[in-house]
Amino acid sequence: MPTAAEELLRFDPPPQLAIRRFAVADVDIGGTTVPAGDTVMLSLASAHRDPDRFTDPDALDLTRDPNPHLGFGHGPLFCLGVGLARMEAETGIETLLRRFPDLTLDVPANDLRRRPSFRNRGLCELPSSSERGFSTKSREPRVRLVSPRKPAAREAANPRPSERHLGGLNPSELAQEQQHTNQLRGGRPR
Ligand code: HEM
Repeated sequence: MPTAAEELLRFDPPPQLAIRRFAVADVDIGGTTVPAGDTVMLSLASAHRDPDRFTDPDALDLTRDPNPHLGFGHGPLFCLGVGLARMEAETGIETLLRRFPDLTLDVPANDLRRRPSFRNRGLCELPSSSERGFSTKSREPRVRLVSPRKPAAREAANPRPSERHLGGLNPSELAQEQQHTNQLRGGRPR
């Protein structure tokens, strides 16, 4: 999972551009002079497709290693939240796929809608289905995701609690799931 999360950040990074830079003196970059005072927009997305840095840069390779991408920037402005962001991505994707291994898209991939932002790309929604849990095809989820700490709300949302537990999990699966999530929360050094 760690290499997959890194490759997704390289292949389709949410921030396409780094934080704006301002030239404090004339600076030569690859044969082009940026005059002092000019604003410089650095394209992370473009750097990620640099064939001098990445083998077969237009291919999504979830096992790519090493992966010297700039998804969290570089240098003095390197992302302060990198540890949290990596943990969230790895834990979120891993848990989603473990809990809903049959997860499938409800629409053709080309019909997915993106937020109207070039700076911070992302999907508006991810219409998807799982036999274990839900379908976005219908407005009514097969199982409602309700906090296990609120049993009354859970039972109200799921008329037959014996068959309809959180995310399609029975109580013992749910306990295992929580134990696994707690282990992941323990984190590992980066
Ligand atoms: C997947 C999630 C994230 C991505 C892809 C991301 C990416 C980036 C990028 C590209 C930069 C700019 C680097 C540059 O211009 O050189 C940045 C800066 C920054 N990020 Fe993140 N970030 C993420 C999550 C977070 C989180 C969760 C936090 C805080 C909890 C955070 C806090 C910051 C801060 C404070 C800066 C500015 C650092 C500075 O100016 O010194 N980021 N991030």
